[in-house]
Amino acid sequence: MLPRLTPETLCPIQYLKGEVMLLDQRLLPHKVTWVHIESSDAMISAIQTMMIRGAPALGVAGAFAIALGLKKIYASHKFKIDLEILGAHVIASRPTARNLAWGAHEVMMGIQGIDPNHRIEKAFSIAESVRVDDVKRCKTLSEFGSALCDDQENFLTICNAGALATAGYGSAVGVIRMCHEQGKKVHVWVSETRPRLQGVKLTALEMKTLGISHTIITDSMAATLMAQGSVTKVITGADRIAVNGDTANKIGTYSLAVLAKAHSIPFYIAAPWSTFDLACERGSGIPIEERSENEVLKIHNELISPEGAKAFNPAFDVTPAHLISSFITEKGILSPPFRSL
Ligand code: MRU
Repeated sequence: MLPRLTPETLCPIQYLKGEVMLLDQRLLPHKVTWVHIESSDAMISAIQTMMIRGAPALGVAGAFAIALGLKKIYASHKFKIDLEILGAHVIASRPTARNLAWGAHEVMMGIQGIDPNHRIEKAFSIAESVRVDDVKRCKTLSEFGSALCDDQENFLTICNAGALATAGYGSAVGVIRMCHEQGKKVHVWVSETRPRLQGVKLTALEMKTLGISHTIITDSMAATLMAQGSVTKVITGADRIAVNGDTANKIGTYSLAVLAKAHSIPFYIAAPWSTFDLACERGSGIPIEERSENEVLKIHNELISPEGAKAFNPAFDVTPAHLISSFITEKGILSPPFRSL
């Protein structure tokens, strides 16, 4: 029986009786549809088309993509090469989210030295623990984050860094959710997040499901709200965090950080350690995914621009570390530079 969307069962991916099921996030908030994913190709396509999205959730998807792909190659006489090829395909499917490569590597490393006949079973069990651990990690970071928050906070967040973007609790939204569960009175300004509208569609759905007071705004309204004194904290997730603290997240995050600095409002990044890229020294080294211009030119497949207009569609931007007040992680509240912990 697949979970309905309740506070306890809000999640993007399930592993049930040996089957990998994805909640099709493209159809939310109005349709709850679970899709059985049977191969690594199907998972890669689900990642690229954003049936599943959000960096920590992509980590889990990456882990299951490798496990699914092993069904074809587990007994290959050139297993190592085939595994490298599989891993490269999975990791390239969305280049910015660090967690995707991290999750894929967890499984690729974990099956080293395992008898070919046990590789698939082992891979699924590692992928499932990546999923379960992410929920724990997000709850822990949310507890750390909630300690930074007072009663009566007016949060502003962008995109969706909630249960649907992780394995099931949330990072930035997790902190807000934890405050709410602790009985703090909170309100959330939900930035719509053009072009794909993850704020309007997903974060607002999570807020409604969790019973958290919220108001949707268009992305361009943030400055006015801040100038009015209506925002006490900005909190967002992250797709990749460099050693020096420069952080890639949904396009528009950088503008919010500049605005928060201009209005002396704390700006926090909340992310599990799997988002930190210790091989990437600074933001200029973070690959930024550019997506189809149709995401900007069309809404629900209907052209809203003049015929033939061009659009620019980078999915993420990089917020320089000096604009970020602190990093909320499951290892505590951290500041750069980041090294192995
Ligand atoms: O393009 P998306 O929807 O995958 O982008 C998601 C974000 O930018 C999130 O803020 C980020 O992945 C953190 S999710 C906890």
